[in-house]
Amino acid sequence: MKILAFETSCDETAASVVFNGTQVQSDVFATSSACFTSTGGVVPEEAARKQLECIVPVLHQALEKAQTDPSSIDAIAVTKGPGLSGSLLVGTTAARALASLWQKPLVGVHHTLGHLTSPWLECAETPKFPVLSLSVSGGHSDLWYRTSHTHGKLLGRTRDDAAGEAFDKGASLLGLPYPGGPAIQKAAEQGRCDAFLFPNPLHEKDTLDFSFSGLKTSLKYTIRDLPEGELATVRSDLAASYESAICKHLLHRLQKAATMYPDIKEIHIVGGVSANTRLRTVASDTFRTCTVRFPCKISYCTDNAAMIGAAAFFLHRELGDASYLPFQTKASLGLEELVETTV
Ligand code: KG4
Ligand code: ZN
Repeated sequence: MKILAFETSCDETAASVVFNGTQVQSDVFATSSACFTSTGGVVPEEAARKQLECIVPVLHQALEKAQTDPSSIDAIAVTKGPGLSGSLLVGTTAARALASLWQKPLVGVHHTLGHLTSPWLECAETPKFPVLSLSVSGGHSDLWYRTSHTHGKLLGRTRDDAAGEAFDKGASLLGLPYPGGPAIQKAAEQGRCDAFLFPNPLHEKDTLDFSFSGLKTSLKYTIRDLPEGELATVRSDLAASYESAICKHLLHRLQKAATMYPDIKEIHIVGGVSANTRLRTVASDTFRTCTVRFPCKISYCTDNAAMIGAAAFFLHRELGDASYLPFQTKASLGLEELVETTV
């Protein structure tokens, strides 16, 4: 089954052709992130305008690179949300128009389900359920126990900021550009991760939720209390210590969940933050007896259309034609919310 997929939830305009949920025949994207290096975050209106400029060229490139044409496309998939409404509207409108013009079924994919499916892209060995999935991006931080692509339960989610947001806001406090994750990672390479002490949020609490706002506040006050002109000297140490504290919090939750669900076969870490080198190293070192899997390319960690095409394929495989129809059940703590496919 060949799916043409779009992802336009934020500042990336992405299109991809994916065969049977794993083989990526093309993966093209344009990004407006360079417009936001000094704004500390994405300006929604500007991002939506860039989406409009890029969607048609990106579509053409995706078809061309896959050496395919509309007649051999079986379905169209698109991120239906969550995300910036103006940006989403560009993708969903384009997908709707093409589905109608080419007479193809249309599958709306929840953005998080796309991230959760990203480890299947070009994987050498098919992942095995049950899977413990940590999905960490700029918009969400969720911990899932999943027994299939469409069944599972939410174990924990952030009570305030998302992990990527903690990186982005932390970078802004440190005088580093947006997006903050790669900038903090780069600065941290020159720093000592034990130079500054940050709290371990919700450490004693009986929960699998996350919280990052305390870490951010702690960084803010540490910077405020530095002697005049000292920030430039300790920036790398602060970046390394802050990055380490975020990873420690994420890993602590994963370890706790892994103990509670001993039947899991694999641990997946997905979403933009899963590109982080320290997180990858610490996670692989922590879980030596369980397979720890990340998306196989860094470009599959951050927002991409291939993951949306993959998720649409598995939705169709598990739900059949129902994946093209409104899914009736809406339980807030189950995967049902993520497998609703109406655009
Ligand atoms: O999944 P994603 O591309 O978009 C959302 O769904 O939000 O994630 C973007 C987030 C940003 O907050 C960015 O700072 C973070 O992922 N990120 C990273 C790294 N690369 C991207 N965080 C830590 N380390 C990285 N190397
Ligand atoms: Zn994302």
